[in-house]
Order: sequence, then structure tokens, then C-alpha cells
Amino acid sequence: MVFNEAVNSVKIVTILDDYAGYETSFLAQHGIAILLEVRRNDVRKRILMDTGQSALPILHNMKLLDIDPASIDAVVLSHCHYDHSQGLVDILKAIGRNDVPVIAHPGIFRSNYVFKPFIRNIGITRENGREAIEDVGGLLVLVDEPFEIMPGVIVTGEVPRKRDFEKQGIGTWNLDDGKFTPDEILDDLSLAVKVKGKGLAIISGCSHAGIVNIIDWSKELAEESRVDLVIGGFHLIEASTERIEKTAQALKSLDVGRVVTGHCTGLAALSEFSRVLEDRFEQLHVGTTVQM
Ligand SMILES: [Fe+2]
Ligand SMILES: [Fe+2]
Repeated sequence: MVFNEAVNSVKIVTILDDYAGYETSFLAQHGIAILLEVRRNDVRKRILMDTGQSALPILHNMKLLDIDPASIDAVVLSHCHYDHSQGLVDILKAIGRNDVPVIAHPGIFRSNYVFKPFIRNIGITRENGREAIEDVGGLLVLVDEPFEIMPGVIVTGEVPRKRDFEKQGIGTWNLDDGKFTPDEILDDLSLAVKVKGKGLAIISGCSHAGIVNIIDWSKELAEESRVDLVIGGFHLIEASTERIEKTAQALKSLDVGRVVTGHCTGLAALSEFSRVLEDRFEQLHVGTTVQM
């Protein structure tokens, strides 16, 4: 599958991250929410990727950023984890319309567990289940393959995992039919926006599929060699030094124009990116805005 269309511009605004930023009045939380303001000819749309652990800091930050939640046209969930999905129903309430597309992978409602420090469901909570989403106006669009929300805005679907150094999982388990099985987080999806006269902007939630796999796949889908921006969480917080170093080298050799990352990326990876990518790297925080 190849997507050839492009948008005229995209403005990417970080609504929520683990870091509020220096000298800001934003609220931070372990979680992520990134807003895309897309323009294609006379069509202007706002797409929200992820909804944090709760709507409270998101709505607070939106107020400071002068963004009306009612202006959001669609919501994308990058994967099931609570720090991306738990704010969903309250965000849909704030949007306050019917049939707001909620785009996610069909596996997003599975029971997803960790056992450390104690057994806990880290997936979608009951408060954000199918019925709860539909009751507040969400229109579930559950797709596991790549598609476009609008021409030039690609949902990656399941990402092929080809890079050896990105194969290690994060120790989550699925519970199905009385059995726990290792979870590959196949629901992890990202957005790739193709911008006219420029290259790709890739927006990820936690990058459980591996950020380099996500970049490889986005380039293939969009038939675009230039990656101007990668923004989001890379989930390297517990990764080996070897994986962190290989990721930094890959981002450098792929010639990514700008790497903006935070959330679950972790201090060791952030400092390695700063060292290897120099001024192409920037730490993500609430309010980080990129215009393309
Ligand atoms: Fe996360
Ligand atoms: Fe996650």
C-alpha cells in the first residue's frame, strides 16, 4: 500500500507530556497528548493523538494554549496503555459532539497486565470501554492496517518489526480465555503526515513497535525518503545501552531533521540523543510546537 497525497501544512502542538517545560504554567503528567492542526487546500482539521491518564491537565493546558476542545475533529489512540487512553471519555465529553472518530487498533480493548510491583491492568479501563466511548459520542474506527484519516495523514496500522535491536518487549501480558500470553503490543500505531514540498512528520505515542521500525515503515508507506520530524515517546526508559546507542546512530544515519522526544524515552536515551544528534535533538515538553 502506498499513499501519495500530501497536506499543505501541519502544526504539531504538545498538549501533555511528563515534563511541563521550563518556566511554564502547564500541568505535566506521565502520559502524552499531541494535537495536529492539518491544512490541505481549504480543509482544516484538528486531530488529537492520545489522551493522557486524565483529561484534567489536558483541558488545563488547552486553555493556556487557547485551543477549544470542541474544535477537535478526531481522536487517535496510539495503543491501549492507561497513560494514553484513560483521559479519552472525558475528552470526548469536552468535545461534546456525536460521531467523533476514535481511531485505534482492533486489539486495543484486550486485557493487558503487568505483575510488578503488583498485578495491574495497564490497558483500557472500564470507564473507557467501548460502550462508555460510544455513550459520549465516540465513533470507534478500529483498523489494523494502514489508512489515511485524510489525504496525506497516514495511520501506520501495525508496524512491521524488522530491526533486530528493537525486538525486545517491555514485559506486558495479555489475558485471554484463562491464559496469560506475552504481549507484543501489536496495537502500537503512529501517524505519518506527508507535507507538500517537505518530508514526513512522524508522531508516535510510546513507539512500542520501535521508533526506527516506525520510521522505516512510514517512509515505505508514504514513498518519501525525507523525514523532517519525529516527535513523541520512544519508550527506551528501561532499554539496554546497546539499544539506545543503536537507536541514536540509526536516527543520525536516517538523517532525521528534528528529533523531539520525552515521555517514556528516559534520561539515558535523551542524553545520548543530545550527544549524537546535537542540535537536531530537542526534549519534548508541554507546549512544544512544531510548524511544518
Ligand atoms: Fe506511554
Ligand atoms: Fe505504552
